[in-house]
Amino acid sequence: MVAVGGTPIRDTTMADADARFWSLRSFLFVPGGQSRMIEKARTLAADAIILDLEDAVAPDGKAAARALVARALEEGFPASPVVLVRVNGCASGLLEDDLAQVVRPRVDGICLPKCQDAQEVLLLDRLLADAERRTGKPAGALWLVPFIESPGAVLEAAQIAAGAPRVAALSFGAEDLAAAMGIARTREGDEVVYPRAHMALAAHAAGRAAIDGVFIDFRDADGLEQDIRRGRSLGYTGKQLIHPSQIEPTNRLFSPDPEVVARARRMVDTFDAAVAAGQGVVVVDGQMVDRPVAERARRMLAVAAAHAARAGHEPGPGGTA
Ligand code: COA
Ligand code: MG
Repeated sequence: MVAVGGTPIRDTTMADADARFWSLRSFLFVPGGQSRMIEKARTLAADAIILDLEDAVAPDGKAAARALVARALEEGFPASPVVLVRVNGCASGLLEDDLAQVVRPRVDGICLPKCQDAQEVLLLDRLLADAERRTGKPAGALWLVPFIESPGAVLEAAQIAAGAPRVAALSFGAEDLAAAMGIARTREGDEVVYPRAHMALAAHAAGRAAIDGVFIDFRDADGLEQDIRRGRSLGYTGKQLIHPSQIEPTNRLFSPDPEVVARARRMVDTFDAAVAAGQGVVVVDGQMVDRPVAERARRMLAVAAAHAARAGHEPGPGGTA
């Protein structure tokens, strides 16, 4: 925390965000109405499962999907450390019933689709606080992940990200955004690069993780790899997935290379020793290391440590995954 003119300003860096959420790479959507896929998801090593009640469920299947998801949550997803549910959005008329049925002890957080503005975040913050009281979870334990998938939401993304402490990440929705703007999607995604970059920037400005949108052509492995790399280069920390085959490349490409982690360790150790000796800049492996370079290395070490800790499947914030 720093202070300017007596006013404390929150230092929105990774250090005070939740390192466990930042280290989640693969977020697999599982349609809430599909019992076979829900069963399959129990065996898959996605970092997070998103049980979907929204667009993967037809309008007349909503009630059945809710009931199926509620039952599935009682058994849990042993291979995935985090379980999220995507409820229907604020304008759907279904939101409160969704929350009443699916916020259960094993849920770590809620994805809010088509989030429009920070008012919706405030509403969800209140509804989730009620749900925490009802289910005996600690206050603030449930994560909220707003989806940014309309032109207005992209422009409001910074306010949405900072809208409540429980907002863990922003999640990009290129398909709905492109539909709203009447633009065609391409394999390279050049048509959404500006909003995609803007959302990642807004998430980072508030110290939140940034989850990239889906790559829908799930048989195109090369296309997926390129798409993951593009998202990573814009600051995305993880990605939404639609198919089991997308988990392995996503986990691999979002994991820092062991050599890079070892170099980061050397940078941080050398830099900290230099600072203690009154110096601000050092050279490590022929590269200049000053404060921002050392901070980037420190962030990578925190993510790598969280990956290692999660190999033993640490629970989510509610302690129940
Ligand atoms: N979660 C869990 N299991 C899944 C899965 C998912 N998202 N997608 C596929 N599977 C399972 C299939 O059930 C199948 O399992 P089985 O061998 O036990 O029958 C296996 O993985 C192979 O699936 P495959 O035949 O290659 O794909 P498919 O034709 O059955 O399904 C989709 C393709 C796109 C319809 C399916 O992947 C899907 O519904 N994805 C999620 C879509 C979604 O949630 N959209 C909303 C957010 S964008
Ligand atoms: Mg959508």
